[in-house]
Amino acid sequence: MNLKTEKKEQEIGKKSQAVRTKLINRTTKSGEMARRGHPSLAMEVVQTVDMPHQLYIDKAEGPYLTDLDGNQYIDLTCGFGPNVVGNRFEPVEKALASQIKKGWHYGIPGAEQAQLAELIKESSSAVDEVMFCNSGSEATMFAFRAARAVSGKRVIALFDGSYHGIHDYALVKADHRSDRSEPSSVTLGAGIPEEISKDLMMMLPNRDENAYELIRKHKDDLALVVIEPVQSSNPRLDNQEFLQGLRDVCTECGVLLMFDEVITGFRIEYGGCQQYYNINPDLVTYGKAVGGGMPIGVVAGSKRVMNAFSGADDSPVIFAGGTFNGHPLTMVAGITILKHLKENQEEIYPYLHEQGNRIANEINEFCSSNNIAAQMMNAGSMMHLIFSGDTIDSARDIGRSKIEKEFYLHLLGHNVIVPGIHLAFISFAHKPDIVDKVIDAFKKSFEDLREDGYI
Ligand SMILES: Cc1ncc(COP(=O)(O)O)c(C=O)c1O
Repeated sequence: MNLKTEKKEQEIGKKSQAVRTKLINRTTKSGEMARRGHPSLAMEVVQTVDMPHQLYIDKAEGPYLTDLDGNQYIDLTCGFGPNVVGNRFEPVEKALASQIKKGWHYGIPGAEQAQLAELIKESSSAVDEVMFCNSGSEATMFAFRAARAVSGKRVIALFDGSYHGIHDYALVKADHRSDRSEPSSVTLGAGIPEEISKDLMMMLPNRDENAYELIRKHKDDLALVVIEPVQSSNPRLDNQEFLQGLRDVCTECGVLLMFDEVITGFRIEYGGCQQYYNINPDLVTYGKAVGGGMPIGVVAGSKRVMNAFSGADDSPVIFAGGTFNGHPLTMVAGITILKHLKENQEEIYPYLHEQGNRIANEINEFCSSNNIAAQMMNAGSMMHLIFSGDTIDSARDIGRSKIEKEFYLHLLGHNVIVPGIHLAFISFAHKPDIVDKVIDAFKKSFEDLREDGYI
């Protein structure tokens, strides 16, 4: 690597010191809030943006975010992914306002759930039925339960490098000391019984054909194989062959296959990765974009699996519920955004791919001609800057570089926000002139690092 990652904290260079001072001085209201602390908020310590202190947002519009002090930034957060056409999309705002006049929470369903369900069903040939919940995590939790119920089997397989949310069965990761091609599983964080990773979940290697052999070997115990068709930790689109092989082996072994499209659904294409790769899984989970910025989770799939929610055709029935499932505000926001995306898909999705590719190409060209060991990976409009010039095969190849935080401080100084997880998104509101500014800010941030001797 060319990056001098060993530069010590106390040796902060001139430019880096200047950007810290600039950020602190122009965000005094956020700083005051962060310093005051929130004794009643257990998670106030989590920083969502790389900053000397937490940054608080006051409002959002189109491709922009504005903080408490009135500073405007180009937003590459897009709400952690959902805002495919930008922030505060007017038709959604109008739909929410008109629903609010009719009351916003009944418990007893209105007509909206069926309308949104129909739109989702129409978007995918893998979906016969859907059920609504409130987050991507709830969706994967219900989907895992449904798969166990209808298959009568217990083990669920996840892939190395995946993320499926915050419940106990999702917080199982590959032990990075284990064999890449046959990874073992560990639980993430305290409070999750070890038995979950040992007995009830298993780990598969992503984009590695040994996964097929492991599925064959464990098929009698495997209720479900779960994959992010594009991993957010390793965003790339060259997964066709691996996913097709996975579909074939799951069919051959009688194991259910689930695409977790919480991020990719209605973002990679209108019909998500299912459309992009033309592959039908048995189960699909959605979230994020499908709620138009309101909290949502969706379990969707073939009638056989979805029967677990209704008990139809004598299926074993799982317990599923939730006070806010199918919330009217979420439903009207979802209907409005999906109608818009559907009607304008031929304009929106090619644009997102084109501009995402443009950012990646220009930054990669810049890095290679300036001998900077970094690369922008992207799957259309979702992207991740990797501080390594090496070939990336798996999320395991992506470590965190010490200068990463330094880079994102400079980027913020150039008025571009990437969230602290460093997964960036653009939206349809990021018009070419905004994308130009994004590319320019990335290049300037590299130059800042070079001036300070980090590169
Ligand atoms: C693929 C995937 N599944 C599930 C989740 C969990 O969704 P949520 O944060 O809405 O619970 C996420 C969140 O980023 C995700 O990316």
